Amino acid sequence: MDESAVTVLTALLGAGEGGYVSGEELARLLGVSRVSVWGRLKKLQGEGLEVEAVRGRGYRLTKEPAALHPEALAACLRLRHPAAAGPRGGLGLVFLPEIDSTNEEAERLLAAGRKTPLVIFAGRQTAGRGRLGRAWHSAEAGGLYVSFAFQPRLPPARMPKFTLWMGLSLCRLLNEVYGLPVRVKWPNDLVHDGRKLAGMLTEARIDADVMRDLIFGLGLNVNGDPARWKGPGAAAARVAGTLQQINGGRALSLNAVAADVAWTGARAYEDFVTGRFAAEFDTLWARYDSLGGRDVTVGLADGALRGKVTGLDENGALRLTLADGSRRAVQSGDVTLGGYGVKS
Ligand code: BTN
Repeated sequence: MDESAVTVLTALLGAGEGGYVSGEELARLLGVSRVSVWGRLKKLQGEGLEVEAVRGRGYRLTKEPAALHPEALAACLRLRHPAAAGPRGGLGLVFLPEIDSTNEEAERLLAAGRKTPLVIFAGRQTAGRGRLGRAWHSAEAGGLYVSFAFQPRLPPARMPKFTLWMGLSLCRLLNEVYGLPVRVKWPNDLVHDGRKLAGMLTEARIDADVMRDLIFGLGLNVNGDPARWKGPGAAAARVAGTLQQINGGRALSLNAVAADVAWTGARAYEDFVTGRFAAEFDTLWARYDSLGGRDVTVGLADGALRGKVTGLDENGALRLTLADGSRRAVQSGDVTLGGYGVKS
């Protein structure tokens, strides 16, 4: 991490849209002469940022990087969530321009004894993993690929609502901070209007009835148009959507979203392990669930079940009332809205 770039970007991003930072101020922050400031800014210009210099006013950022940029991400974290960026914030941020899968990398780092919590971001993934052995399309610069690694030391029996809680917390962020009407689709998707905006993949290692490693992976389609996706994972584009599409076509700042996701995920985890989440879960579920009252088909390992969704049970299983009036609670499965074959 280039600390001086983080300092510059924190000042420029902190000045807000249209705001200038004087050459003196940047020179002071960097501890260099005013003539050296331009050299530092030039380096950033080669990394997808644009900085304008106006005589008598100073410097201003005219273009943020469209891709994930570790220093811009660190600057956003510092500005938006100072507690997380400080020395005691405890968010171990890892940034990799390219990796097979951030969940895999989380496993490797845990195996190597890295201290948790860790938040691992990748610019792209070459073997992004989805649920049930599926691939997760991870080539585009507009996507966010992140894994959180924790060591909760909790009995696995405490975990069944974990992924749903993380999803609800992310929905709250996207609704309240970004004004985007994102909902959770049980058990592991974030959706809007039948389009999948994000997938969550929780993986755990259990030792002697205690959870040792817990990895929460999130693939969030932030900017771009799935119709343009290419390559093997592109089949997912049929049902995929991006935040940009539901933001009236306006691109979001990927680095700001990444910083907010890192902070939200880490806090949501804390609220989960301390049990604080329980006081809010039902309210958020009522607000952000996308399936309540809908007719669905749930694909199970041994067939499919069709019924109306009536809610969740205390273990996070989906409650259904079937056509014959009988009730079932399903622990996991693929949910399709309406009739057979209509993918939601
Ligand atoms: C799904 O919907 O099937 C879950 C998709 C989860 C994808 C994310 S991208 C970041 C993390 N790394 C992975 O390899 N997978 C998860």
